[in-house]
Amino acid sequence: MTAVTAVPFLDLSAQFKDLEAEWLEMIRVSGAKGSFILGPNTVDFEKEFAAYVGVKHAIGVANGTDSLYLSLRALGIGPGDEVITTPWTFFASAESISMVGAIPVFADIRPDTYCIDADSIARRLSSKTRAIMPVHIFGHACDMGAIMQIAKDRKLAVIEDCAQSFGARAGGRVTGSIGDTGSFSFYPTKVLGGFGDGGMITTNRDDLNEHIRRLRNHGAMKPFIHTEIGMNSRLDEIQAAVLRLKLRTIDRDIAGRRSVASDYTKQFAGTAVKSPVAQTPDAHAYNLYTVRLPKRDAVREALTAANIGTSFCYPQGLHLQDVYRHLGYKPGDLPVCEQASTEVLSLPIYPRMPDTHISRVCEVILSSV
Ligand SMILES: Cc1ncc(COP(=O)(O)O)c(C=O)c1O
Repeated sequence: MTAVTAVPFLDLSAQFKDLEAEWLEMIRVSGAKGSFILGPNTVDFEKEFAAYVGVKHAIGVANGTDSLYLSLRALGIGPGDEVITTPWTFFASAESISMVGAIPVFADIRPDTYCIDADSIARRLSSKTRAIMPVHIFGHACDMGAIMQIAKDRKLAVIEDCAQSFGARAGGRVTGSIGDTGSFSFYPTKVLGGFGDGGMITTNRDDLNEHIRRLRNHGAMKPFIHTEIGMNSRLDEIQAAVLRLKLRTIDRDIAGRRSVASDYTKQFAGTAVKSPVAQTPDAHAYNLYTVRLPKRDAVREALTAANIGTSFCYPQGLHLQDVYRHLGYKPGDLPVCEQASTEVLSLPIYPRMPDTHISRVCEVILSSV
């Protein structure tokens, strides 16, 4: 009897094994110096991260949700303001808008990239609109040219949610370098993932850099002197160490994801499985490889029965979630997003995923569509 190949959705333990010795040594050095908060690894990682993204400033924070929240706070967005975003994202994007007391206004998505549709944004502008929060979803960059044009015409701030798009480019520019701010998450499943929680904010604006640094540290620029209500949201030295190591080889890792995506796409060509599109070769970092399937639920069951990990991003648009019922959206309001939620399935993808695993996933899917 031949052994059946189990395929994990993501192999984080392999990443840990690769970096274990060097990471532990970096932590030992930090520990020996007694430097645990905003220490040398965090300071150096901020510089290295800013250089990679191509911005003046990068500010380490505790997680991706805080990076969105602090960006909105620094931009002065608050009660009564509207922020246009996508319903097709992890909850934290809209949640951060609600956390500052503003109102998330949901625009529909594009059927090809799943990113927010600039035409739909234009239809949702109002006199209360203060900002746009595009989310580069699954790792594909939004149409930043069109979005920045709307923002310029209406004098709106742009907060890029880059939690899933590390390394992806829009019009040749790295996501996170185009809007007023870029927000990143280092949740372990991300393209640049830590071994715990972490986040980063990027900006070219000196005023925002200074304000966010104050907000992440209890509103204090000098010890014990507080000029406003902030919070404790700092990137941990232990995470900064592993993220510095991972950043050194991130281009190789992104190329690895693109290669897995290309193998899947070749094997699905001409079948009922609709592969994700990349508008340009550098537009997609493939944090997730999400297909559309006619018999999605049956295929997912077949994959689960075959011990193949999948994820379901996203089962319901945020505009229809109970928590936002008071905003008054109803089924049919954002049809592209609603249709996608009945058809999509995210497949295993990570750098150096073995060919045998890719073939096994395709074999099970193609025998059940
Ligand atoms: C699109 C998006 N935005 C924001 C976040 C929030 O990041 P974190 O989990 O680090 O708070 C995530 C993370 O899962 C995400 O996928």
